[in-house]
Amino acid sequence: MSRHLLSAADLDADEATAVLDTAAEMANVAGREVKKLPTLRGRTVVNLFYEDSTRTRISFEAAAKRLSADVINFSAKGSSVAKGESLKDTALTLQAMGADAVVIRHGASGAPHRLADWVDGSVINAGDGTHEHPTQALLDAYTMRARLGRLAGLKVAIVGDVLHSRVARSNVLLLHTLGAHVTLVAPPTLLPVGVGAWPADTSFDLDAVLPSSDVVMMLRVQRERMGDSFFPSVREYSRRYGLDGARMRQLPAHAIVMHPGPMIRGMEIAPEVADSPRSTITEQVTNGVSVRMAVLYLLLGGMNQ
Ligand code: ASP
Ligand code: CP
Repeated sequence: MSRHLLSAADLDADEATAVLDTAAEMANVAGREVKKLPTLRGRTVVNLFYEDSTRTRISFEAAAKRLSADVINFSAKGSSVAKGESLKDTALTLQAMGADAVVIRHGASGAPHRLADWVDGSVINAGDGTHEHPTQALLDAYTMRARLGRLAGLKVAIVGDVLHSRVARSNVLLLHTLGAHVTLVAPPTLLPVGVGAWPADTSFDLDAVLPSSDVVMMLRVQRERMGDSFFPSVREYSRRYGLDGARMRQLPAHAIVMHPGPMIRGMEIAPEVADSPRSTITEQVTNGVSVRMAVLYLLLGGMNQ
C-alpha cells in the first residue's frame, strides 16, 4: 500500500481486501470492554476539515483514538484560514507540529493530492469536492461483504445525484476493482459528462433496475454544489428517483438499502425505507470506525514499517 490514500483507485484488489480484512479484526476490538490498541501510541493524526462533516470527522477521531494516536482536530471555520492563510501554509504549520497523518476534507477536487506534495506524513482523502471519498467506498464495500457475504458478482445500483457525488465515483472505482457490477441511475442532468468511460452501466429508469439489484445505494441531492436547477421540483425528483416503500418491495428478498448520509428523509429516501431492516445506514457508520482504524493502521503502523 502506498503512503497516501487519495483515490479508491490507489488500491488494487489485494490491497483493498487487506483493508477490509484488517477492518474485520478491528471490529473485534470494538466488541471488547477496553476498546483500545496501543499500535499508534506516540503518532499524531490531524483532522483537517474545510467542509462540514458529522460521520467522517467523528469516526476518524474515534479510529485514531482507539489506536492510541494523538488527535488534533482542525476546522477551517474559526482558524487562520479565515484570515486568508493558504492550504499550503496551513499544511506546513501542521507539519511543523509533527503530523504523521493528515486526514483532509476540502471543497476543491484535488486538494488532498496537492497536500501530499507538501507534507512528509500520510495524506488521507476524506472527501474532495465532487471527486472522491475513498474511505466511504471502503466502508460501503465492508458493509456489503458483511451483509451479503461477498463482493464479486454483486449487482449494485447507485441512485441519484451522481454528478456531484464523490461517494459514487469512489464506489464505482472500488467495486469494479473488487468484481461487483455497478449501474448508475439518475436523471440525465445529474450524470457527469464522460460517464460512458466509467466502469459502470447507466440507466434513467429506477423501476427497471431494482428487481435485479442486490444493493441499492441512495445518494443525497447535493444542493450546496448546485448553481442551477437540475430537476423541475423536489416532488418530481422523489416521484422518479426517490426510494419509497412500494419501490423497496420490488427488490429481491435478500437485497439491502444503503445511504452514505446525511440523508434527506422524504426526498431521496422515505422514512419507511430508511428505518426498515433492509437499511444498513447505521451499520455503515459503525463500520466506518473499523475501516478507518484499518486504513490508519496500514498506512502508519502496518505495511509501511
Ligand atoms: N457525506 C457524503 C460526502 O461528504 C455524502 C453527502 O454529503 O451527501 O460526500
Ligand atoms: N458520509 C459522510 O461522509 O458523512 P459526513 O459528510 O457527515 O462526514
